[in-house]
Amino acid sequence: MEKIEQIKKVAVRAAREAGRILIAGMTQELAIIYKGELDLVTQIDTLAERAIVTHIKKFFHDHQILAEEGNNQESDSPYRWIIDPLDGTTNYAHRFPCFCVSIAVEYERSICVGVIYDPVRKELFFAEKGKGAILNQQPLSVSSCPILKESLLVTGFAYNLRDNPNNNLDHFSRLLMRAQGIRRMGSAALDLCYVAAGRLDGFWELNLNPWDTAAGFLILTEAGGSVTDFSGKPFSIDKREILATNGKIHQEMVDVLRSRS
Ligand code: IPD
Ligand code: CA
Ligand code: CA
Repeated sequence: MEKIEQIKKVAVRAAREAGRILIAGMTQELAIIYKGELDLVTQIDTLAERAIVTHIKKFFHDHQILAEEGNNQESDSPYRWIIDPLDGTTNYAHRFPCFCVSIAVEYERSICVGVIYDPVRKELFFAEKGKGAILNQQPLSVSSCPILKESLLVTGFAYNLRDNPNNNLDHFSRLLMRAQGIRRMGSAALDLCYVAAGRLDGFWELNLNPWDTAAGFLILTEAGGSVTDFSGKPFSIDKREILATNGKIHQEMVDVLRSRS
């Protein structure tokens, strides 16, 4: 594979640079635009995305780009960068300090590098396909929690939850009765990293986009976790369901997500 070391360096630098922009924006007045009833975007999302894409293009001008705020590029290149410049925008707009930058790189449609940077805690989660996952240079591995009733889970709710009957409330109430606890952090990318780090045992959500899950999917897989759809079939970033766990509670979660009572 061409230039993987350079790709890794560029991905990490771009994530750190975007992180600096997010931190600087914390003390600025925010211009909030509504993309939907609940779906916000700020000028900082846009600024951070522009900085990431400019940095990538300096080194890899022909690579494809899929970025949440629209700085996309299509080409014949086998490489594609998948970018969420600010995952956790609702938190960010409320000055709730839980958000991150997420950057993944695909080679021939398979994710080969994932970087997620939390600039508040200065935590950089990183994975390269087949080489494990790290958090600030320390190896990452999922928890050893063996059963659902002892597990701490995390989930999220899509912005269209008021209009979409498949809004996760039924899964939420069933899993709440079965797990030790459930959190809602507001950043799907960090949710995946926290399962990878063993801080949480399982994550599920509906209606996410490729930029929410691409980097976290690789980080969690490389940390020894399992990632599938709700029926236990292999996950892909184009699917609308994600179930991501430490592996040990996976089947129990599949059973609850598939049951209707
Ligand atoms: C959102 C966050 C949130 C999830 C939403 C996502 P954004 O991304 O990841 O946790 O529940 O579905 O859209 O809009 O903050 O980049
Ligand atoms: Ca997102
Ligand atoms: Ca975003």
